[in-house]
Amino acid sequence: MEELEEHLQQFELLADKLSEDGYAIIDNFISKQQIRDLLAVLNHHQEQGTFKKAGIGASDQYQVDKQVRGDYIRWIEPSQALPPTRVFLNRMDELMRYINRTCYLGLKDYEFHFTVYPPGTVYKRHIDQFQTNDHRQLSCILYLNEDWLPEHGGNLRLYLPKVDGSEEEIDVLPVAGRLACFRSNLLPHEVLPATRHRYSLTGWLKDQLNELPFL
Ligand code: OGA
Ligand code: MN
Repeated sequence: MEELEEHLQQFELLADKLSEDGYAIIDNFISKQQIRDLLAVLNHHQEQGTFKKAGIGASDQYQVDKQVRGDYIRWIEPSQALPPTRVFLNRMDELMRYINRTCYLGLKDYEFHFTVYPPGTVYKRHIDQFQTNDHRQLSCILYLNEDWLPEHGGNLRLYLPKVDGSEEEIDVLPVAGRLACFRSNLLPHEVLPATRHRYSLTGWLKDQLNELPFL
């Protein structure tokens, strides 16, 4: 199948699932080669020592608590992105435009970081919108874990609210090339511990432009 046509079909599926269920899981979102290229970039950033322990809360309430959140992150500065990262960001641009034509979320910008969860670390149940800053509309996570098996753990667990007030739990294995996408303000979720390092690109499509960091 033509690549562009395949991309379009994935976007259609994603938009349909999002509006029906509030979340979407798309497999083979990027090619095996792109996965390897992104892992090489991630490795490069690690060797440069530019990953930082992640915290919780917006800037004014920022705190680091590794019982709650044990991952290390490296924010992407789009103007300085290496080619494989650029390819991914361009795809997110396309996705944002597609969703704006079909789902009316008024998306304007995105922010992404590379993410590493060392074995045994977690991110306890939370939602992705900050109390003081509610511009995150869609959470998107692209997993980069080759040969990941159920026994490695590390599921993303989504808690779907049901009409009777109960919750349905959906577990998503973080296998390479899989994109998980969900409404940032609606779905509580958590990251379960894994036996291996767990790699991903994590980010948000937002309804407000990012503030320029270098002014
Ligand atoms: C997050 C998060 C989920 C995942 O970074 O906010 O919930 O599967 N990540 O990595
Ligand atoms: Mn989250």
